[in-house]
Amino acid sequence: MGCFVARAQPPFPGAQGPYRYPPSSIGLVDWDWLLRSSDGYLRHEDKATVLDLLGLEPGMIVADVGCGSGFYSFDVARSVGGEGLLFAMDMDGDLLRELEGLALDISLNPHQNVISVENDPRDLGFAEATLDMALLFHLDFPAMAPLQDDKRAFLRSVVSALKPMGRLVAMEYFQGEQSDPQGARPSPSPGLPTERALVVNLEANGLLPVERHELLEYGSVLWIFQKPSTHAPP
Ligand SMILES: C[S@@+](CC[C@H](N)C(=O)[O-])C[C@H]1O[C@@H](n2cnc3c(N)ncnc32)[C@H](O)[C@@H]1O
Repeated sequence: MGCFVARAQPPFPGAQGPYRYPPSSIGLVDWDWLLRSSDGYLRHEDKATVLDLLGLEPGMIVADVGCGSGFYSFDVARSVGGEGLLFAMDMDGDLLRELEGLALDISLNPHQNVISVENDPRDLGFAEATLDMALLFHLDFPAMAPLQDDKRAFLRSVVSALKPMGRLVAMEYFQGEQSDPQGARPSPSPGLPTERALVVNLEANGLLPVERHELLEYGSVLWIFQKPSTHAPP
C-alpha cells in the first residue's frame, strides 16, 4: 500500500520530540499504518490539537476519507454523537476489516455510529450535499501535481458530497520549502505534495481556504476549506 511505502522512510529521520512516541504507549487501538515506519515510530501531529481544530458538533455527518484502521475515526465518531455519523472510508479493504473489528468495542465506539465504506479511489460515491465535513488526513493525495484524471475526479466527488458551508479538512506533511519559507527546516521527500498545489486544486473545485494551522515543527499542516453557500461546480 502506497502510504506504508512512503512512511518506510520517515520524512525527518532521527528527529526527537513529544510527538515521537512508542506504539506501546498509545493504548487501545491497533495503529496499524503508524507502526509500519522503519523503526516502529512515526512523528505525528498531536491528535487532541487536531480534533480541537475541527469544530465537530453533535449530529454532524462526517467522512474520514482514507481512514486507514481508524486513527482519527473513533474520536470523531464520539464527537458527533449518537445523532451523527462517521463514514470511515478507505480504498484498502484489509484496513477496513481491522477498523470493523475495533468498531465492535463499545468503549471505542460508544454510539456505534461508525460506518465503514470501501470506496472507489476515483469516486467517493455520495449523493450531492450529504456531508458536513470530509477529512483527508495524510492521503498524500489531494495536492499531487499534476493531478491525474482519476485524482481530479476523486477530488470533485469529495467536494460535491459536501453540503453548502460544509468543510473539507486536509492535513499533510508538505514539502519543506512550502511550509518553511525561511528554509530553516529539513526538506522531506520531494514526492510530498506542496501546499500551493493543495490550495490551487481545491480552489479550482470551488472551495474557499479559511484556516491554516502548522501542527508540527517539521511540516504537518492542516488546512480547512469551506464550500460556499451557493456552489457552482467547476
Ligand atoms: C497514510 S494513511 C493515513 C490514515 C489516516 N487518515 C491517518 O491520518 O491516520 C493513508 C490512507 O489513505 C488511503 N487512501 C489513499 N487514497 C485514497 C482514496 N482515493 N480513497 C480512499 N482511500 C485512500 C490509503 O489506503 C491509506 O489507508
